[in-house]
Order: sequence, then structure tokens, then C-alpha cells
Amino acid sequence: MKETQAVIERIKQVNLGYQRIELSVDESLLQIKPGQSILARLTETWDPYLRQQWFPVNLLNGKLIVERPLSETYEIGQVIHVLGIIGQPFRFRKTLRNVLLVAYDTPPIPLLMTIPWLLANKVSVTIALLGVATSYDTQHLPPEVEVELGNNEGEFLWQNQVMTLGWADQVFVTVGPDNEFSRFANVIERVRELRHDVPRHYLFGVFQQLLPCGAGACHSCMIRTDEGTALICLEGPAFDLTQVILR
Ligand code: FES
Repeated sequence: MKETQAVIERIKQVNLGYQRIELSVDESLLQIKPGQSILARLTETWDPYLRQQWFPVNLLNGKLIVERPLSETYEIGQVIHVLGIIGQPFRFRKTLRNVLLVAYDTPPIPLLMTIPWLLANKVSVTIALLGVATSYDTQHLPPEVEVELGNNEGEFLWQNQVMTLGWADQVFVTVGPDNEFSRFANVIERVRELRHDVPRHYLFGVFQQLLPCGAGACHSCMIRTDEGTALICLEGPAFDLTQVILR
């Protein structure tokens, strides 16, 4: 992991609430893969706030693309101080036909970089948006992506849930980080109700906890698993939910 600088080259509004920012980055960041992220600091000098975790949504023509809320202001030429690469890529199965992405009470941004990669490998993609994620406008996503909307009452539920869970070879779920463990516990409970067998390497939780150091030094991102403990910043962000101790 390195501390480098990125420069904003283009900014484009892509839907009702988000803008995509094209960053020219250090060569070391061009190895980034779906699931991995960077920690960004926007000020020149030290400030007391933690760096923001940015999950890129694409890597295009040697530029890293990130998606940020329209409520944030950025300028062409602005320098971003970046720490990265953070975490491990999503562990996709070797033979993969259908992938289900689920955003539950959070925007789906940590999952979006998978889409161009999966489609390019002829893997079909469904994205389910639940709770507050139903307000995420998907008009800029590729038309091949099937979108399922849940209700906005905070339930882990959508219309074709049994079919899409059964049809998916792997499922990647990200949830509102304010109550991540309890939401992931709901997710695994619901999936176990609908499928009597939840195999290993099928259902992954994508954690978005705050990462104060991002380098394995502070241990504040530690979780417990059946095999001991793990650090989200080094071994995450995706963990097999059948292996994580959530209560
Ligand atoms: S954020 Fe410090 S150890 Fe993971």
C-alpha cells in the first residue's frame, strides 16, 4: 500500500443523486480490482477526520472512476491524497453464470465495479435495491443489468427473491454501515429460511466499517469468524457470511 496523489480530470453527473469523477492515479492503483478500495483525503494538510473510503466503480483507459454524491463539490485539477490499494478483490467462483448484488439500506456503490467485469466475462448480473437503496437511480447502469426493487420499509425482501437467490451462483450484499452486524444477521437468517442449504462461498457480506488506518495497524476493523479473527482492511471487505460470527 502506498500514499499517492490523484488528480481529478473529469466530472460528470450520471443520475439524479451522483456524479462520476475520473481520476488520473499512480500506476500502482491501476491494479485495483472489484472489491478493493482507496482511502481519500481531500485536504492538503492533516485534518482530524478519517479518510473517506472510496470504492471505484470502473477502471477505464487508465483512469480510475469513482461515484460521489452530487451534494459534494469537486473541481477539475483538484488533488486527492490517496492511500491504497485497500483490501482484497471479491473471490468469484471460477465457473460463474449469474451473480446477484444486493444493496440493503445503503447505496450500491461498493458493488458497482463488479458490473463491467462480470458483463465482459458473459456473467449475467441482477441488482436488488432495498430500503433506502430503492431511491438510487439506476439509469446509468448498463441495460443488461436486471434491477429488482424492494419496498423502502427496511425489509430484506423483493418480489422475485426466491427465484433470484436460487438462480445466483454467488451473492454479494452490502448494508447500511450504521448497523452492519444486525443487518447482516437479518440477511443470513432470511436466506436460510429460503434455501435450506447455504453453501460456503455463496453469500458474501461486503463490510463498510470505518477504517482508521487501512493498514492492519489499529485493529479497529477486526471481526470474528469461525476460524478466528480477521481485519476488514486487510482480508475484506467481503466475507463469507456463513463464516462470520455476527452476534
Ligand atoms: S483499519 Fe486499522 S487495522 Fe483495519
